[in-house]
Amino acid sequence: MLQLENVAKAFGGLTAVQNLSLTVSQGEIVGLIGPNGAGKTTLFNLITGFYKADTGRVVFQGQDITRLGPADRCKRGIARTFQHVRPFQHLTLLENVEVARIYGRDPANTRTQAQRDARELLQHVGLAENAGAHASSLTLMNRKRLELARALATRPTLLLLDEWLAGLNPSEVREALDMIRALRASGITIFLVEHLVKALLSVSDRVIAMDAGEKIAEGTPMEVATNPKVIEAYLGPEMHHA
Ligand SMILES: Nc1ncnc2c1ncn2[C@@H]1O[C@H](COP(=O)(O)OP(=O)(O)OP(=O)(O)O)[C@@H](O)[C@H]1O
Ligand SMILES: [Mg+2]
Repeated sequence: MLQLENVAKAFGGLTAVQNLSLTVSQGEIVGLIGPNGAGKTTLFNLITGFYKADTGRVVFQGQDITRLGPADRCKRGIARTFQHVRPFQHLTLLENVEVARIYGRDPANTRTQAQRDARELLQHVGLAENAGAHASSLTLMNRKRLELARALATRPTLLLLDEWLAGLNPSEVREALDMIRALRASGITIFLVEHLVKALLSVSDRVIAMDAGEKIAEGTPMEVATNPKVIEAYLGPEMHHA
């Protein structure tokens, strides 16, 4: 479904992603781990078009999208949540989701339709009761729910989640993991970044590890969690038993 071929991105003298190749197959849940500054968010920005790759190619569903901007990639079915969640504070939750439903893949044709779909999505993520509230009033968990509803409103086939679980308590994490599994069951392919390693390992079919802009390991959750390079760069010895 998604293929990166030797993708690189530098900021001035700093190479944030170097010569990185990976694939994500239809229907998979792929987890991406690595220390702070490894290049994970930069990689997501290269996939979603917020950054353009300096070299290499990004291929989505067999088509080269390397030069497309974020709006065009979104229309093809790539959506993401942001590590730093920033809803439109002065719009209601319903309006936030409605906006997303007017853009993206297979957008709503009318405002009425967009509103109806937005209501359904809010219900789906457990925010139906807050539809008329302003986004600025939300708790963290509810901001995360809204962020997901906005991403889903663009009808993605590939969804990138950048630390969507960060800051949640253990029971909220369990709930969020169930939501991720349900999304996959509904046909959406998932690529996620998390520092909550146990949660990531439990939900992922396959895991990729990065350090200093490079892929250092890839395999089953167990293979990556026990890989000496990953333990040294990121997990530390105690995660050996994760
Ligand atoms: N827009 C930018 N301009 C300059 N440097 C940047 C920019 N975006 C990222 N970087 C740098 O690129 C490197 C990779 O950053 P990135 O945000 O991709 O890391 P990350 O793996 O997502 O880290 P974290 O786990 O902390 O979110 C870091 O050194 C960061 O400072
Ligand atoms: Mg990041």
